Amino acid sequence: MSNSLFRKKSLAAIMNDAREGASDAHGGGLRKVLNVRDLTLMGVAAVIGAGIFSTIGQAAYNGGPGVIFLFILTAVTCGFTALCYAEFASRVPVAGSAYTYSYVTFGELAAWIIGWALILEYSIGNIVVAISWSSYFNNVLEGMNVHLPAWLTTDYQTAKAAYELAVKNNTAVDQMAYATAPMLGNWRVILNVPAFLIVVLITIVAYVGISESKRSANAMVGLKIVVLLVVILIGVFYINTDNWTPFMPNKFEGVLKGVSSVFFAYIGFDAISTTAEESANPQRDMPRAMIYSLIICTVIYVVVTLVITGMVNYSEFNHISDPLAYVFDKLQMEKIGYVISISAVVAATSVILVFQIGQPRIWMSMSRDGLLPKKFAKVHPKYHTPGFSTIVTGFIVAIPSLFVESGIVTDLTSIGTLFAFVLVCGGVLLLPKAEPGTKKFNLPYVDGRFIVPALFLIFCFFFRDKISDTFVNISTIAHERVLFLIFLILTALITVATAVKRYSLIPVLGMLCCLYLMIEIPVRSWVVFFGWMGAGLIVYFLYGYWKSKLAKQS
Ligand code: ALA
Repeated sequence: MSNSLFRKKSLAAIMNDAREGASDAHGGGLRKVLNVRDLTLMGVAAVIGAGIFSTIGQAAYNGGPGVIFLFILTAVTCGFTALCYAEFASRVPVAGSAYTYSYVTFGELAAWIIGWALILEYSIGNIVVAISWSSYFNNVLEGMNVHLPAWLTTDYQTAKAAYELAVKNNTAVDQMAYATAPMLGNWRVILNVPAFLIVVLITIVAYVGISESKRSANAMVGLKIVVLLVVILIGVFYINTDNWTPFMPNKFEGVLKGVSSVFFAYIGFDAISTTAEESANPQRDMPRAMIYSLIICTVIYVVVTLVITGMVNYSEFNHISDPLAYVFDKLQMEKIGYVISISAVVAATSVILVFQIGQPRIWMSMSRDGLLPKKFAKVHPKYHTPGFSTIVTGFIVAIPSLFVESGIVTDLTSIGTLFAFVLVCGGVLLLPKAEPGTKKFNLPYVDGRFIVPALFLIFCFFFRDKISDTFVNISTIAHERVLFLIFLILTALITVATAVKRYSLIPVLGMLCCLYLMIEIPVRSWVVFFGWMGAGLIVYFLYGYWKSKLAKQS
């Protein structure tokens, strides 16, 4: 049994399956229409969305302007990971992303676990984006004097919390969703209908074709970049540098509170790798597109954060879900605020689109390997998209969007994605050496033998208080400390392995940085994460373990 859990697919078998899949009798295969520009734009389309338009507000409140350090730290982490993705994408240019990469390096069980974790990134992540879309869309409608019933634009938990807060603060409650919702028996009908509808609409676009999706994504990216540039160019003139002092009002601890939302803002650059089979020259273009999109987004994020925290004091961003529009409204420039709301709707739409395209392609790969039923790999004869998988993705995202609360799903998306990133970085270390001249991207090799142990010692020096606190209080250890302790142990092991095996520096740093960001996410989200992964294991042992193509071959 233990051997079969680690059965691996060879690179040659993966390429062969992809070729067979591409000339699938059901459908004539996927279309190879994406070039480096399309892929870069697709990356930006997937990255810039709810994160910068919504969740950054709370991160700025907790961390102050100093949250830019978190943006940079996260960008560096994503940069290491992007290079590892790029190495894989150039070696294994097929759809399936991190799932396929793990199948080659760690074996079937890890590949399944990654595939399951990627559902958190793509489908659960899209729920967060759909909810943010709905909230901005509602702002836009309000601006046009169109008022949807409050109980049709939010979820039960959020409505209840807002109602209780209003009662506590003695403010008016009679127009609130919780107060106006119709009753169905004992149940208050509170549903986020716009979030549901946008997912349905985008699923239809994703179903109809990659070319249509590409055109829509490109147009939307153009608009959101222009609007963010406008925010920067106009906002710069309203910066009051006093607002930058103190730069880190709650020290680095406050900055780190934003890990989940800042990381969420970067999720998506890896989605490019799911479209490898629709890329004209994946080995050359995918690595470039990932790095280009990451650089573009980082510059935009850092500058936008500096501008908005310069325009308005960080302390005003508490519970502000539309910070970019807010700063302009605050300075009596409501028209610009309104344009920003419109572009936030567009930005979120493009993110939803790319993720609705990404998820089915991962399932398609899993199905080709026998880990999911065959239907998931079926390509639509007319539209040349994985039709069935696209419809299932639509259901899985649209239905929870009606009633799920966004906070916990943001954390869950971030943990799931970071987990996938750790395995991708680790997987690069296990990849067999490529034949010279067979690939068009080379991850630079820097010997980590001395650098990683040195960095570990520096880390221990800077975190000496936290480390000694963890060991001194080991008997009354709190959950956060358990996570930190696990991180320390893993880091020590990876450091020793790097010193002994002379591992390449970039993947090792990618792993360590992702692990660190993971432990900064609240414990309650970890509990849900473990529950999710446990459910995944059950599904694997009930289905994939027996039906896997490799199992049948052996
Ligand atoms: N990075 C994407 C966003 O911020 C998920 O919406």
